[in-house]
Amino acid sequence: MHATTATSWTLEPQGSATLTSFAGATIRHSSALVGRGQEIAEVAGQVRHSGLVHVTGTAGVGKSALALRIAQKLAPAFRGGYRAIDAARALDCEHLRALIAAAIRAQRPAHAAAEDHAGEFAGLLLLIDNCDRHAACIAGVARTLRRVRPDVHVLITGRMLDAPDGPSFAVPPLAFPPDAAMLDARTAMEFPAVRMFVQEAARHVPTFALSGENTRGAIAICRRVGGIPLAIKLAAAWLPHVAIATLADLVGPELLHRLLRTDPPRRDRRH
Ligand SMILES: Nc1ncnc2c1ncn2[C@@H]1O[C@H](COP(=O)(O)OP(=O)(O)OP(=O)(O)O)[C@@H](O)[C@H]1O
Ligand SMILES: [Mg+2]
Repeated sequence: MHATTATSWTLEPQGSATLTSFAGATIRHSSALVGRGQEIAEVAGQVRHSGLVHVTGTAGVGKSALALRIAQKLAPAFRGGYRAIDAARALDCEHLRALIAAAIRAQRPAHAAAEDHAGEFAGLLLLIDNCDRHAACIAGVARTLRRVRPDVHVLITGRMLDAPDGPSFAVPPLAFPPDAAMLDARTAMEFPAVRMFVQEAARHVPTFALSGENTRGAIAICRRVGGIPLAIKLAAAWLPHVAIATLADLVGPELLHRLLRTDPPRRDRRH
């Protein structure tokens, strides 16, 4: 999809693993994105039209994963592609400004396909991820950036409610079945929360597949964690050690409370 260089940044194609790095910041999403077609289309449209979008939502709901996928999707439409910064790694506002400046200054690697779209949109799409610890800083930085470099479009993620100028998009949990009973495996798989649980379960138990025996447990887990991707991921990691029916009883609101209490984000431990 994109060319890579050793010195600047790399972007792997969409798939089971994505890795974007720039100026020491690294954003990884180790799973294929489940669902989110509608959200991607909506936020991508907002980025195109307003040039600055704030992606918000509760802890672990999938803001970063969604924003990264949107940046990948939109990159070919920007002459400079996209750059990603993990703001959680910035020590303070000054450091964050320096990372942003470095990201904008960097030369984009040659990418023939992008030439086909040259000029379609602005010069660069900048993803500033996990801005929670720099909420006050980022609003000012984004405002200034849009004024002095209107060719740079900005996608910001953070849990904070006070969005900088521009529209904000609240990421919803993954949809889950309304009821654990009476659903067969095939119908359950129509719900993205269940598909994600199955995907994660198979990472830990390679033989895992949804069946008449475990569908109810899988649905119960998705329901109990409210369709929050990070919680689904954490729950599935227990499968090698705990029977799914037991897990469904153990997982519950306290896991969500713990997630919500977690200081935002410590990315190294998430992926
Ligand atoms: N739709 C999805 N399909 C598969 N995995 C997902 C999906 N959404 C999120 N994930 C995974 O769930 C975990 C949490 O997602 P992510 O880090 O994007 O959440 P976040 O909202 O940015 O969290 P935080 O509030 O801590 O910044 C990650 O491991 C991510 O790869
Ligand atoms: Mg995040």
